[in-house]
Amino acid sequence: MRTRTALCALAIWVGAVLVVTGCAAPSHERLTHQQPTRPEAVAPTPAAMTVGGPARVFDRTQHSTTDPASIWVVVNKKHPLPSDYRPAISLVRGYQVATPAAGELTRLLDASDDADLGFKIASAFRSYDYQAGVYANVVTSSGQEAADQVSARPGHSEHQTGLAADLVTPANPACDFEACFARTPGGRWLAQHAWEYGFILRYQPGSTAVTGYSPEPWHLRFVGRALAAELRRTHVATLEEFFHISGGDYP
Ligand code: DAL
Ligand code: ZN
Repeated sequence: MRTRTALCALAIWVGAVLVVTGCAAPSHERLTHQQPTRPEAVAPTPAAMTVGGPARVFDRTQHSTTDPASIWVVVNKKHPLPSDYRPAISLVRGYQVATPAAGELTRLLDASDDADLGFKIASAFRSYDYQAGVYANVVTSSGQEAADQVSARPGHSEHQTGLAADLVTPANPACDFEACFARTPGGRWLAQHAWEYGFILRYQPGSTAVTGYSPEPWHLRFVGRALAAELRRTHVATLEEFFHISGGDYP
């Protein structure tokens, strides 16, 4: 009897010690071995997170790449436009531009004016017939093989979508429509800032086999801010590579 009383007293004493000390386990063990009581407090796995929050997958189907009126339409030597296609037009500084691109082109030009770059639009929308004349002139002056490196055959020019614009610098024209435009203050500014307004440099060095054309650091193509930012983020230089669409030479 005395033994049982002693054992009970011991059990009560041990129990009290366990309660007071929080069951006696070292505090760091309690933390690491605790089951989470609030599921939302569980640390996310690295795969599900980026620095800025949950990873978002860019939706490459938001816009058509084949509808001529789509801001993501891909036009190249393998993917022509209907000869009678004409976009809805707005005027930007007197030039015809596809309406979806007009506001951003205006903002880009205003920003470039603030930076004292002196850009002027040299060419924006060009109809099928107008492009036929442009291409014919280049063939006359340079021959067809050379012309095909720099000028689109009618129906194959992005300018027919109204989403493209060529910029020049009348006060310093030596590099207008020349490769050295890329090294002018204006060319450098475009390479750095065009994406902020939803434009890309469509024909970049190293991409001739994909685009079908020599580099044109003056040729802007509107694709919208989301895609322009995504192309920059992913370091993809061409629409063909981003959308896995064929390019290069004429079939
Ligand atoms: N210079 C570009 C490729 C065009 O003619 O559309
Ligand atoms: Zn152009």
